[in-house]
Amino acid sequence: MPQDNIADPSKPSPGRVYDYLLGGNHNFEVDRQSAEQVLKIMPFAGKFSRLQRWALQDIAVELSERRGYDVIIDFASGLPTMDNVHYKVQKGTMVIYSDSDPVVVEYARDILKDTSDVYFFQADARHPEELLSRPEVEKILAGRRKVGLVYWGISVFLSDNDIAHAARYLYDWAAPGSCFAFNAQGADVNPEDPALKQGMEIYKRMGQDTFPRSLKEYQELLKPWQPDAQGFIPLLEWHGFEQSELGKEDVAAYGPMGGGYGAYLIK
Ligand SMILES: C[S@@+](CC[C@H](N)C(=O)[O-])C[C@H]1O[C@@H](n2cnc3c(N)ncnc32)[C@H](O)[C@@H]1O
Repeated sequence: MPQDNIADPSKPSPGRVYDYLLGGNHNFEVDRQSAEQVLKIMPFAGKFSRLQRWALQDIAVELSERRGYDVIIDFASGLPTMDNVHYKVQKGTMVIYSDSDPVVVEYARDILKDTSDVYFFQADARHPEELLSRPEVEKILAGRRKVGLVYWGISVFLSDNDIAHAARYLYDWAAPGSCFAFNAQGADVNPEDPALKQGMEIYKRMGQDTFPRSLKEYQELLKPWQPDAQGFIPLLEWHGFEQSELGKEDVAAYGPMGGGYGAYLIK
């Protein structure tokens, strides 16, 4: 995500636009205007953002309570507000958040203060080694590598090379038995849809490129990670949404699955 307009209240930032779409209040008037433009063209954008965030909450519970990971490392985390990972995990689970946006990091540290077992670092999800080889992170982990890893709500902003590199690096870094919760964001959207094109244009004007791709392309890029038996779950199914909740223009722009899939990938 571009860094130059992050703290500038006169220019919209994709991170703050997302916050507005989620119903948050860490955004400026310019962000709200851009978000409203997106909503006008793609009315499903607000629901889509909340679907992604609800799925992330499930992941926090699944990884910590059901699968027993006591360390969760989350990339491109956004703000650690009430609905983010550390609120949902089982007590005693360590959560290491990260984000490339320095303002998010600053706000995040202010929100977290001295919350025990929760950390927030500035790091680029395109290069997971940036976070994992930080001396502070190595110290916190103390050699633990059987962990839950999370890339949620970020992959449509990453190039093919970025995803392939991150997947390979994390696979080599993590211990066997680790789990990588991955959101194939925007998989199978129709890149030719005029509304989607306009939406992508709004993001481009904010300096943010987007990379729509098919689920099959995502699966190739994520190798050698393989999904568990549930496979890639459409976002709509994740929360039992009916396709009928989408308008015609939403299906055309987001695809019949609601704009993406999520999976638990296993090493
Ligand atoms: C759409 S939000 C996703 C937040 C959260 N993971 C979720 O699913 O609700 C995207 C976040 O990714 C951050 N971001 C964008 N590009 C990034 C990158 N290359 N590395 C790390 N963070 C990035 C933004 O600053 C923003 O906070």
